[in-house]
Amino acid sequence: MSNYSEESILNFLGPYKGNRSAVLRSLQLVQELLGYVPDSALDIIAKNSNVSRAEVYGVFTFYSDFRSTPPAKAVVKVCVAEACQASGSASLISELHDKGYDIHKGNIKDDIQMEQTFCLGNCALGPAAMVNGAPIGRATCAKIFASTSAVTA
Ligand code: FES
Repeated sequence: MSNYSEESILNFLGPYKGNRSAVLRSLQLVQELLGYVPDSALDIIAKNSNVSRAEVYGVFTFYSDFRSTPPAKAVVKVCVAEACQASGSASLISELHDKGYDIHKGNIKDDIQMEQTFCLGNCALGPAAMVNGAPIGRATCAKIFASTSAVTA
C-alpha cells in the first residue's frame, strides 16, 4: 500500500485506540501495512495511542528494523555479529561492497537493499543472511543474488 490516508491508518490501528502501551505494536502494524513508517504516521500513532510524538519517535528510533522510507523489492540483511565474523562474514561483506552494496549504509541498487544486522539466530550456519525474511545459511554472494533475483525479476 503506497498511498495512505490518516483515516486509513487510524482504522487499521482501531483496536489499539487509547492504548498507551501499544506504541510498538502500532509501529509494527504500520510497517506491515505500508512497508515503512512515514514521518506523518508517527503523529497518527501518537494521537491514536494518546502519547506524545516524542514517545513514539523514541520507540521508532530504538528499533533498527523500522524504516522511514519505502523498502526496495529485495531487502537483504547480512549478519555482522561475532559468530558470523568467525565464519567469514568479512569476505562476504567485502564481495558485496565490490558489487556496489554497502551494508553499513543500507544503500539501494537495482531494487536490492543491503543492510547489516546483529545476529539472525542462525549462528551455526554463518555467515548468515536473510532475503525478505527468508534465512540463508553459509551465505555467499551467489546464494544471496539467487534469492534476490527471484524477487526483483
Ligand atoms: S552471529 Fe550471525 S546469525 Fe548469530
